[in-house]
Amino acid sequence: MARGETRFFCTSCGNETLKWEGRCPACGEWNALAEAPEPDNAREAEPATGSGDCSPRPLSEAGRGEAPRRTAHLGELDRVLGGGIVPGSLVLLGGAPGIGKSTLLLQLAARLHADDGDALYVSGEESASQVRIRAERLGTGAADVPFLAETDVDRIVDAARRREPSLLCVDSVQTLHSSRSDGAPGGVSQVRACAARLQTFAKEQGVATFLVGHVTKEGGIAGPRTLEHAVDAVLRFEGQRTLEHRMLRAVKNRFGGVDEMAVFRMTSAGLDPVDHPSEVFLADRPEGVSGSAVAVPLQGTRPLLAEVQALTAPSRYASPQRVSTGFPSRRLSLLLAVMERRLGLALGEDDVFVNVVGGLRLADPAADLAVLAALVSARTDRPLPPELALMGEVGLGGEVRGVAQADRRIKEAARSGMRAVALPPSAAETSDSPVELCGVRRVSELRELLEEEP
Ligand code: TYD
Ligand code: MG
Repeated sequence: MARGETRFFCTSCGNETLKWEGRCPACGEWNALAEAPEPDNAREAEPATGSGDCSPRPLSEAGRGEAPRRTAHLGELDRVLGGGIVPGSLVLLGGAPGIGKSTLLLQLAARLHADDGDALYVSGEESASQVRIRAERLGTGAADVPFLAETDVDRIVDAARRREPSLLCVDSVQTLHSSRSDGAPGGVSQVRACAARLQTFAKEQGVATFLVGHVTKEGGIAGPRTLEHAVDAVLRFEGQRTLEHRMLRAVKNRFGGVDEMAVFRMTSAGLDPVDHPSEVFLADRPEGVSGSAVAVPLQGTRPLLAEVQALTAPSRYASPQRVSTGFPSRRLSLLLAVMERRLGLALGEDDVFVNVVGGLRLADPAADLAVLAALVSARTDRPLPPELALMGEVGLGGEVRGVAQADRRIKEAARSGMRAVALPPSAAETSDSPVELCGVRRVSELRELLEEEP
């Protein structure tokens, strides 16, 4: 971006544009565009190292930039972060109110504080006595974490400079304000300015900084894209509040892969890491019921077992409903077409519902075969064997295609109590499988897997 060029952003959704318009081209809000605040431009002009030295040198003279990561000692949080906490990184922790963001950060601060005595927890949401009550519930030294109730970002930075912690937790970005920006706390300009301030601080001082952000109605954190660009990593904390398990997912990570996931259970004494998430997702699986199948998707780098449920019923409407939760709708349409043309099972007159249990989302194409099996099972009202898992991508010709990392998935299926795995024959050739492997070349062979009609 050329220097001196003015940019505008929407104070409602955060979208950036190069020219001013009366109406935001992204969200359609009127009179919402404002000139982008200075701090962004100032930040661009800064050297990336913050050292002030601007003479070019060969890359070979540069350090590898791999500052040693710190271990979070909190379940799989390290893996979600790409292998530990990176000093100087700014991580945004997003999630709906009440999901457990403050609890997770306080536990993290307590763990690191117990390690080497230098974490700082700042809350603009709750007073010291409120946080103390939570800390006492958590035990494990949470009440010893240095705490500050503050909403002014400059004072937070000053306090952190004085203490020099290795971990700074700020809860939440929506409560922060900066004197250098206009607008109310929680508004897009304030949120951007405060995040930029913390980003600069984190980089300059090498302090790993975790920032809580509430998810807005539209599902974005403080306005879609507003903050996600300004931070190094975005973690989403999700789950149904009525269920005790919570999923922590990386949706952006400058230092690791995305889609990595950690599962926790909310207990009366804080969040408890779940070592074998597959068991959680299969826990309430009904037995002997048609329309249920087990998929083995890769979630980030780790295979996981997930239950897919399908239900089909004659529709009362001229255009039948297609409702899919946790599985992409386009993929579902494709599978329904394959089912009609390659298996002769038409669902044109039926409502079709697909649900991936436990709030999981199946982005991995290897989940196709399980979703198709659930549909076929629902349509024919014949259950699948309870201890069968399925993996494979389904092609338009009705062929079942190979999956990546089949042997790791097979191991995970075995560990979670499955006795058989249906998969493309190419993947069935692993020598020492702990479970029975059933090669499925074409989707028409799925019928043979279904149990007899009752
Ligand atoms: P909280 O961390 O305050 O959520 P957030 O910061 O995302 O808004 O925790 C929310 C819920 O978790 C709250 O309803 C109480 C519950 N909870 C427990 O069940 N056990 C605990 O040990 C703690 C600290 C909270
Ligand atoms: Mg909170």
